[in-house]
Amino acid sequence: MKLWGGRFAKETDTLTDHFNSSISFDQRLYKQDIIGSIAHVTMLAKQGIIKEEEALCIKKGLMDLLEAIEKGEVSFNEKMEDIHMNIEALLISRIGDVAKKMHTGRSRNDQVALDVRLYVREEVKELQRLLLTLMNTLIELATDHTETIMPGYTHLQRAQPITFAHHLMAYFEMLKRDYKRLEFTYHTTNSLPLGSGALATTTYPLDRDFVAEQLAFESICENSIDGVSDRDFCLDLLYSLSTLMMHLSRFSEEIILWSSHEFHFIELDDAYSTGSSIMPQKKNPDIAELVRGKCGRVYGNLLSLLTTMKGLPLAYNKDMQEDKERIFDSIDTLTMCLPIFTAMVKTMKICPQNMYKAASGGFTNATDAADYLVKKGLAFRDAHEVIGKLVLHCVTHDTSLEELSLDIYQSIHPIFEKDIYEAISLTTCVNGRSVKGGPSTAAVKAHLQKARLFITTH
Ligand code: ARG
Repeated sequence: MKLWGGRFAKETDTLTDHFNSSISFDQRLYKQDIIGSIAHVTMLAKQGIIKEEEALCIKKGLMDLLEAIEKGEVSFNEKMEDIHMNIEALLISRIGDVAKKMHTGRSRNDQVALDVRLYVREEVKELQRLLLTLMNTLIELATDHTETIMPGYTHLQRAQPITFAHHLMAYFEMLKRDYKRLEFTYHTTNSLPLGSGALATTTYPLDRDFVAEQLAFESICENSIDGVSDRDFCLDLLYSLSTLMMHLSRFSEEIILWSSHEFHFIELDDAYSTGSSIMPQKKNPDIAELVRGKCGRVYGNLLSLLTTMKGLPLAYNKDMQEDKERIFDSIDTLTMCLPIFTAMVKTMKICPQNMYKAASGGFTNATDAADYLVKKGLAFRDAHEVIGKLVLHCVTHDTSLEELSLDIYQSIHPIFEKDIYEAISLTTCVNGRSVKGGPSTAAVKAHLQKARLFITTH
C-alpha cells in the first residue's frame, strides 16, 4: 500500500514504480532521515501537536529501526519509492499506528531538503579533513626541499630556476582556497529547511528555531518556497569539488611528466604505480592518470545539476531528485582520490640531481644574466638583446652560459667581468629572489611558517 494511495483508484504500473523510485541511491540517507524525524517529533510533542508518550514511542521505534538498518537486518522496497517513505512504512509495520503521526506538519519536500543538507554538512567536514592531510603532506615534503633547485616553466619551456618547495607550495595555496570554498559550502548548507512544508509551511504551531537548535543548524531557511526549492548548497559543493579536482588533475599531470624518463624528477613508489600486461619494463603512473581522468565526471556532475535546475518553476519539482546521484558521485570520487593522491605524493622519491641538471640546461639563468648587465648600467632592453645574442651563440655551439669563456662574454660586450659566473649560478638566481612569495629558501621558509599556522588553526 502506497502511503499516498488514498486518492488513487488503481495501482501504479511497475514501470512507474521503477522509474519514479530513488531508494536504490537515497538509502544512504537513512541516518539523516531518522535523526531529522527524531528532532521533528520532539518538537511536535513540545508544541502539544502530538502527545509526549506518542513522541517517545516513535523515537524509540526510530532508534531501533536505525540499529536494525545498521545491522543489515532491513531491506528497502522500491514500491515505497524513496528513503523517506520506506522508513515511515517500516516504522508503521514495527510500532503500529502511532507511527502515522510522525509526518504531521511535514512534507517530503522539506524532509528531503533536510536530509541532503545534513548529509552534505557532514561530508564537507570529512572532505576538509582529507584535504588538510594532503596540505600537510605538501608542507612536510616542501620542508625537505627548500634548497632543491629545479627549473620553473612557462609554456612547458624551462623559464627560471626555482626551488621544488616553491613549486609544491603553489599547490598548497590552491588547496587552501579549496578548503575555504568548502567552508563557504558548509555555511550555505547549514540552514534548516524543515518547517517549509510542501512549500507554504503549515497551520500547526511548529517551532522551527527549536528544531534548528537540536540539529545544530546555524540558521533557518527564511522563506518556505526557497526552503524546499533551493539546491544552491549542492551546486556550491559541486563547484568546490570541481575546482579541487582541477587542482589535483593539474598536479597529476605534472607527476605524470616528472615520472617519465624524459624528466625523471621523481620516481613513484611501487605501491602506487602499476605495470603493463605486455611490456615488462613498464611502470605506469595510473593513479595520477585516474585522478586526472576522474576530473571529468566531477565537472559533469556540476554541469548536470546546473542544467537540471535551470528551468524549474518554484517550488519543488521531481527533477530535483536528480541532485542526489550527482552529489554522491562527486563526494565519493573525492573521498577516494584525496587519500590515495596523498599517499602517492608522500611516498614518491625525489631526484634532486636530475632537477638541478634540468635547471642548468635551457638557459634558466638568462634573465639573471640580463639583470647583471642592468646592475652594471645597461638599460634592461639592451641587456636583453646582448644576452639573447649570447644564448644564440650557446645554442649554435651547443654550450651553456656558465661554460662560456670570459673572452667570449667580453667580445659580445666589454662590460662583462669575471663576477658574471657568480651572478648566474643557479643558487644565486634562486636565492636572489627573496621577495615575499618568491622561490628563495628564505622566502619559502617564511611561507611554510604561515602554512603550518593554517594547518594548526583549522
Ligand atoms: N525522493 C524525492 C526526492 O529525492 C523526495 C521528495 C519527493 N516529494 C514529492 N512530493 N514527490 O526529491
